[in-house]
Amino acid sequence: MRYRIAVVGARIGAKHVEAIRALPDRYELSAVCDLDRVRAARIADKVPIVADYARLLEQNDIDIVALCTPSHLHLEQTLAAQASGRHVVCEKPVAATIEELDRLAAAVRETNCLVFPVLQKRHGNGLQRLRYLADRNLLGRLYVASAESHWSRGADYYANPWRGRIATEPGGTLMTHAIHQHDMMLSIVGPVRSVFARIATRVHDIETEDCASIVATTEDGGLLSLSATVGSHAPVSRLRFCFEHLTAESSSSQKAPHHDPWTFTPAEPMRGQIEAALADFAPGAEDYVALYRSIHADLETGRNTGRLDEFRPVLALTQAAYQSAREGHEVTLSDPLRAAAVSATHSQ
Ligand SMILES: NC(=O)c1ccc[n+]([C@@H]2O[C@H](COP(=O)([O-])OP(=O)(O)OC[C@H]3O[C@@H](n4cnc5c(N)ncnc54)[C@H](O)[C@@H]3O)[C@@H](O)[C@H]2O)c1
Repeated sequence: MRYRIAVVGARIGAKHVEAIRALPDRYELSAVCDLDRVRAARIADKVPIVADYARLLEQNDIDIVALCTPSHLHLEQTLAAQASGRHVVCEKPVAATIEELDRLAAAVRETNCLVFPVLQKRHGNGLQRLRYLADRNLLGRLYVASAESHWSRGADYYANPWRGRIATEPGGTLMTHAIHQHDMMLSIVGPVRSVFARIATRVHDIETEDCASIVATTEDGGLLSLSATVGSHAPVSRLRFCFEHLTAESSSSQKAPHHDPWTFTPAEPMRGQIEAALADFAPGAEDYVALYRSIHADLETGRNTGRLDEFRPVLALTQAAYQSAREGHEVTLSDPLRAAAVSATHSQ
């Protein structure tokens, strides 16, 4: 089936429009919605522009709504779209807490309208090479992994009125900038079991955190260290994994650490097997085009809440990190996919 899709929010929404137009056999762009008609016009081409979201949902030529609006609007706009019978593609964060994610999952069950969180950085050939090795059980046990999200964001970025304010941005650099790197890491090593975090606001005069450090453990005891800031003068996003059989390192591109080139250094006894597997890997589409292809495939095969759950591990990590930073002790997740079920453990 060819799905009719409306893009709401015309800044990062431009990337969605580009991907939709790159897949003309799967999608048709039926409207662009933005309060700012001039911005909408820049990406709409000949497609109708609608300023009011409620009016958009009254149209009957839309199967999917792609939400690219400020983060605090995502939950209510997603629920409204589902109530009107539309599937939703939603920019990160699709929910600010596990409780909100559960509300969306309940709405999926009630309406049969699916929700696809945008985690487009899972679709990068560098990360996918590591996924390919993991799927073939070639990594062995995780010893340690680290993620640096050392970004550069100036005062102009925070001049956008919803950014950096607790009422309108459901988290700072952890929720907004590091979340892709952390999701990429957890997509390989699995959900976390315990989290200790410190957060601080040291770079800008804003309400949300702009620096963060996390120490976490995976379910089988692997150790993670995660560091994030928007105050790096040399912007970097980098992942590094030390497994029993392989050390893997991403590129250090701020925006595209999921793309090639990655560096893979096998343990000597595993070298032949790992190099043979890597030689078999076939690079695929990346980013938003790959995301929209996978959404189309899911819709055609009728998957239910599966994609929504992809956001759960990184949201549980982030929510537990905020709790740890607030309360000043380590947080243990009794169910690693449900930060709601955290039990607090006071460190000595
Ligand atoms: N996946 C990624 O890599 C990525 C990258 C950037 C941003 N994002 C996410 O995308 C979202 C938007 O970010 P942005 O940087 O484009 O923000 P932005 O503020 O630059 O743009 C948001 C747009 O939404 C419009 N808008 C606001 N309220 C609206 C409403 N009620 N109805 C219709 N339009 C409305 C605004 O006019 C604006 O044009 C955020 O949640 C952000 O976290 C994701």
